[in-house]
Amino acid sequence: MKELSLHILDIAENSVKAKASLIEISVCEDSEKNLLTIDIKDNGCGMSEEFLKTVKDPFSTTRTTRRVGMGLSLFEAAAVQCGGSLKISSEQGVGTSVTVTFLQNHIDRAPLGDMAGTMQTLIGGAPEIDFIYRHEKDGKNFVLDTREIKETLGDVPLNTPEVILWIGDYINEGINELN
Ligand SMILES: Nc1ncnc2c1ncn2[C@@H]1O[C@H](COP(=O)(O)OP(=O)(O)O)[C@@H](O)[C@H]1O
Ligand SMILES: [Mg+2]
Repeated sequence: MKELSLHILDIAENSVKAKASLIEISVCEDSEKNLLTIDIKDNGCGMSEEFLKTVKDPFSTTRTTRRVGMGLSLFEAAAVQCGGSLKISSEQGVGTSVTVTFLQNHIDRAPLGDMAGTMQTLIGGAPEIDFIYRHEKDGKNFVLDTREIKETLGDVPLNTPEVILWIGDYINEGINELN
């Protein structure tokens, strides 16, 4: 994929399917260590130890619509190509955490892409789920927590078009300020 944000969207969709009530997405850019780290953590149904062993294999899927699951294996391939890795830990009934690293300056590393768009898609598609988006860049931090937004909004649903637009602007501004 041309943008890492599309991989993140795909991996977070797994968390939605796993019936998570909280999904935490973190991006950390560390120029000193030359590392870009992406973390997607959920409190969904998790996976058995048995399934976890083969989950990065493209033929491991619980999908019924097609027999090949690609999300994790594609993201892992992208990371490995850039001197990084993809690690998963998961516990049934507790949740799953996926951590992906890239050498930040690797020539093949795709740009992070449109994280605002990814978060808008996720939040708009599953407004009942709580999302936390954290972005750290060389010591500066941005955080969006939909639980705080929900509190401010009261009865206005999170997937109201104006709210989704506002969330996009808020994330874009927040990321810009990290530069
Ligand atoms: N966060 C998660 N929680 C529970 N199960 C997961 C999670 N992520 C992935 N899985 C399991 O791993 C399988 C493979 O995931 P993935 O590589 O994204 O392919 P796909 O989503 O197309 O099946 C999924 O079908 C699902 O059974
Ligand atoms: Mg998937």
